[in-house]
Amino acid sequence: MIDLTTQYMSLALKNPLVASASPLTESMDNLRRLEDSGIAAVVLPSLFEEQLALESVLIDRDLSRGADEFAEAITYLPNVESYNTGPEGYLELIHRAKKAVVIPVIASLNGTTPGGWVRYAREMEQAGADAIELNLYSIETDPRKSGDTVEDRYCELVHQVKAGLQIPVAVKLSPFFSSMAHMARRLDDAGADALVLFNRFYQADFDIENLEAAPHLVLSDPCELPLRLHWVAILCGSVRPSLAITGGVHRAEDVVKCMMAGAEVAMMTSALIQNGVRYPHRILDDLVLWMTEHEYESIEQMHGSMSYRAAPNPGAFERSNYMKMLSSYALRMR
Ligand SMILES: Cc1cc2nc3c(=O)[nH]c(=O)nc-3n(C[C@H](O)[C@H](O)[C@H](O)COP(=O)(O)O)c2cc1C
Repeated sequence: MIDLTTQYMSLALKNPLVASASPLTESMDNLRRLEDSGIAAVVLPSLFEEQLALESVLIDRDLSRGADEFAEAITYLPNVESYNTGPEGYLELIHRAKKAVVIPVIASLNGTTPGGWVRYAREMEQAGADAIELNLYSIETDPRKSGDTVEDRYCELVHQVKAGLQIPVAVKLSPFFSSMAHMARRLDDAGADALVLFNRFYQADFDIENLEAAPHLVLSDPCELPLRLHWVAILCGSVRPSLAITGGVHRAEDVVKCMMAGAEVAMMTSALIQNGVRYPHRILDDLVLWMTEHEYESIEQMHGSMSYRAAPNPGAFERSNYMKMLSSYALRMR
């Protein structure tokens, strides 16, 4: 009997497959189907800082704050009042999800600046969330803001979200730091219990006829996996938080790669959207088959086997890989 169990933060999971945040996980029917088809935990769609800030503006009509950049920022927002059920409905969503399934339910907060809105994390815990995933999705466009300033702000935010919580906090982030490994260490110090690597960036295309940004979400494919694998392989063993991979996990072999790199869990959204909420069943069957054929008895046994834990100089290794890749490409001259 193959042991697929894994430990993600303080959550003991029956296998490493987690449904990441998306509108799929907002429906109770989907959550039940995902659980029936073997998924080990679910992340609910994010509640955005802007939704919480907007709510507080709407409640007290305190538009003195609206005189600054927030007032301008909300003019760009889509109608977020009711997106993902809105702040009011989100606690109810957690509550309903906890009733619908037995597997752990991870609530998601999406924001980038410390502030009063982070108190909401406590309410998510009280509503029954087993953990919180904090998504630090932001594009820093102010040329006067240094990397240090941005990193300090993220760490302060993680620190604030963690304060007073009993449940673990995972931090979902982008790969775009000058020193990703150092940033991981800083988030570890700030109290992150897991790092979720990495956010995909959804940049709108240019509509050159109408001179407009054209938002068009393209789902992922497995080509996006290596960036995540390499960073998990680098961080495995050098930071305390659990590691999760999101972005490009579509097949059982992708899950195997995530585990070998050193991730505790492999998250999926695009593959679930493309193949349906019963798809985890097939991935888990294929995973067991692959492990049987390759004589693995447990996930634990393969965990981190391709990580750089034992590599004396992972940076040099990555650079030599880069050179090997370039030189291995044979140009076909016509
Ligand atoms: C339609 C859609 C909605 C998403 N909504 C959220 C969200 O609310 N919060 C979040 O952290 N990630 C969100 N994501 C990102 C996914 O959780 C995931 O990180 C990303 O799609 C990469 O994983 P994949 O390659 O398995 O799709 C969304 C993705 C899609 C496709």
